[in-house]
Amino acid sequence: MSISFDDIQSNQDSLASRKRLINGSAVDVNQLMPLKYRWAWEHYLNGCANHWMPTEVPMTRDIEIWRSSRLSQAERLVIMRNLGFFATAESLVGNNLVLAIFKHITNAECRQYLLRQAFEEAVHTHTFLYIVESLGLDEREVFTMYHSIPAIARKDEFEMKLTEALLDPDFSTESFEGAQKLLANLIGYYIIMEGIFFYSGFVMMLSFHRRNLMTGIGEQFQYILRDESIHLNFGIDLINGIKAENPELWTPEFEQYIIGLIKEAVELEIAYAEDCLPQGILGLNAAAFRDYVGHIADRRLERIGLPVLYRTPHPFPWMSETMDLSKEKNFFETRVTEYQSAATLQWE
Ligand SMILES: [Fe+2]
Ligand SMILES: [Fe+2]
Repeated sequence: MSISFDDIQSNQDSLASRKRLINGSAVDVNQLMPLKYRWAWEHYLNGCANHWMPTEVPMTRDIEIWRSSRLSQAERLVIMRNLGFFATAESLVGNNLVLAIFKHITNAECRQYLLRQAFEEAVHTHTFLYIVESLGLDEREVFTMYHSIPAIARKDEFEMKLTEALLDPDFSTESFEGAQKLLANLIGYYIIMEGIFFYSGFVMMLSFHRRNLMTGIGEQFQYILRDESIHLNFGIDLINGIKAENPELWTPEFEQYIIGLIKEAVELEIAYAEDCLPQGILGLNAAAFRDYVGHIADRRLERIGLPVLYRTPHPFPWMSETMDLSKEKNFFETRVTEYQSAATLQWE
């Protein structure tokens, strides 16, 4: 008996339809095709189209400015605090991805993206080492700031608690509580860490770039922000996908728990901004960050179907202009793979 093309096609379709984001043992996780979650594959392709390395960005001007007297003590503090925060936050995200999330995502196209993202987190950590080395900073001071500065330590501890729950050898998403803990971890990292905790730092560092100061670091932050924007969008698709496949997990109590986490995170982020800006610097002060963090948190809440809480204005409208990379000296012009997806990304 011969097998027709239609038979093969319908077999393949039914195979794809049996794929699941979590608890999906019906389809081998090594079998990528046929795709079910096209969004995961598209995020993967977008990430690959944006490949960059920090060492390709010249640092000569930054070194000159850092050694000169053009930056005030307050400005130096902002830069140091942000390097200190990001240097370890990137590593926390990478470790959580590989050690806590990866194993429990049972879908091949999502895992393909997670592998790409893990590499990008390594590139981001590499960026902070490259900046530290270029400027001749004390690497121990920067890479241990998550212990010595309370506003940074509190953000990291908040995240590490969410990782811990998944590191128990008996942890499984087969149980209701286990699956909820995985969802909370995904929200804690994609929505809160990469979607809220990173954003004050992006504004602060890009404000220098805007004033034509520390432009090498600014360029690197633009590339990081572009990568993180894809991480955030993938995370939102993954969270909403798991929610759609397992609606019983999203109880009113769970929703309240998540809202509580986001409120706590917003306070931690505002405290961090206050710590970075005790006196304010040109165009930036702690009060504006209170508005900004609320505004960003509302955008994230909306994306996972939760009510907005803050209704504050966006105090830094220049951010979208700064992030329009097509207006910048085009880093990718000389490269084989040009940056392809500017129009598909949303900057905050
Ligand atoms: Fe990152
Ligand atoms: Fe990330």
